[in-house]
Amino acid sequence: MSDAPTSRLEGLHKMTPAERLQAVARQTNLGNEAVSDLVSAAEGRIELADRLVENAISVMSIPVGIATNMIVDGRDVLVPMATEESSVIAAVCNAAKRCRGTGGFVTSSSGPVMAAQVQLLGGGDPNNVRLKVYERINEIRAICDEVDPLLVKVGGGFRDVDVRVVDTAEGPMTIVHIIVDTRDAMGANAVNSMAEALAPKLSEWTGARSLLRILTNLADRRVVRARAVWPLEEIGGQEVRDNMLSAYHFADADPYRAATHNKGIMNGVSAVVLATGNDTRAIEAGAHAFASRDGRYRSMSRWERDPAGNLVGSLEMPMAVGLVGGATKVHPTARANLAVLGVSSADELARIIVSIGLAQNFAAMRALATTGIQKGHMALHAQNVALVVGAVGDEVDKVASELKALGKVRQDLAEEILARIRADNS
Ligand code: MEV
Repeated sequence: MSDAPTSRLEGLHKMTPAERLQAVARQTNLGNEAVSDLVSAAEGRIELADRLVENAISVMSIPVGIATNMIVDGRDVLVPMATEESSVIAAVCNAAKRCRGTGGFVTSSSGPVMAAQVQLLGGGDPNNVRLKVYERINEIRAICDEVDPLLVKVGGGFRDVDVRVVDTAEGPMTIVHIIVDTRDAMGANAVNSMAEALAPKLSEWTGARSLLRILTNLADRRVVRARAVWPLEEIGGQEVRDNMLSAYHFADADPYRAATHNKGIMNGVSAVVLATGNDTRAIEAGAHAFASRDGRYRSMSRWERDPAGNLVGSLEMPMAVGLVGGATKVHPTARANLAVLGVSSADELARIIVSIGLAQNFAAMRALATTGIQKGHMALHAQNVALVVGAVGDEVDKVASELKALGKVRQDLAEEILARIRADNS
């Protein structure tokens, strides 16, 4: 029997993960099977989980697969992707293979520059406040660099200050951006600490009250670009190319379509971000905000035909990822995935991630402009459905191949097929 249904589990954070799990199981009437699933999912990892988050009871594992065929800036690279979505990795492998002949992906980057915002309220005319801040740039530099001398030692640190006056529902506010080169760190800790150290001084200098002090995920000074050329024969001819261009124009013009088009790009991007222990939410927030920078939500990628008739794709987006700090350093799977990638800087990782996003977008557009995506999904999806209905061992392939032969991947059909296979074998 469970205790009274309450979400007040006092002292949960002080318990060991095993004790916590028992407490949660009691409270929710969790069956033994579910408890042992949670225990076995976390085998060998629960201590780490307990250090990473509050109230850890288990670990949620996500498959890591390898994207093959990628050439980024002339280097062949195998890219680990962490995703639960069936067709994502296969799609990248296919798209990357189709542009190997033209050299794969060529990238460029604006460098690892992050910004934090300090919100200033009052202090008189916000434009005066703004100028008073600019006058202190040398002091600002000194305060920021003092917060993270190690960063300065490796070539990073304070770069610039930008002060904006933003109109809000309660009147204008002065918003100070401190701009920092965070080198191989994602940089959240560095810039947040700098903003917090600086805020009291900004108040003192300007007479304004400082309130929020936090990085912006719209990392538009940390933009990475990837470009690739797909030859006509690799696309499937002129008609497919033109249909892909129409698919792109649709996405660029219509936010309803752009959201899905960009979600496809993020299928690739987030999978590598997650596999390397980076912050998927930060990247996603930055990506979608950047896609709206013209005042309208648009396609993150651009597509065109070159004079020879080939399809040229490019993707430009903020990419605030790091190699040091956070889960990248402490999570063994993230560390191993970084070793597979063989990258020596956060910038190099960022370039690979954006290339993967572009490959993903090519594959989705090509599928949508030809057979639709369900065909490609079918094989892996059929296996998922077989698992969902309880198939084990050989049964999974048998159920999946019957579903594929029927051309209908449905749970009710999978149940019928499984029941028949079991009856035949009994
Ligand atoms: C599915 O996860 C992603 C797609 O919907 C992307 C797209 O529509 O471009 C296939």
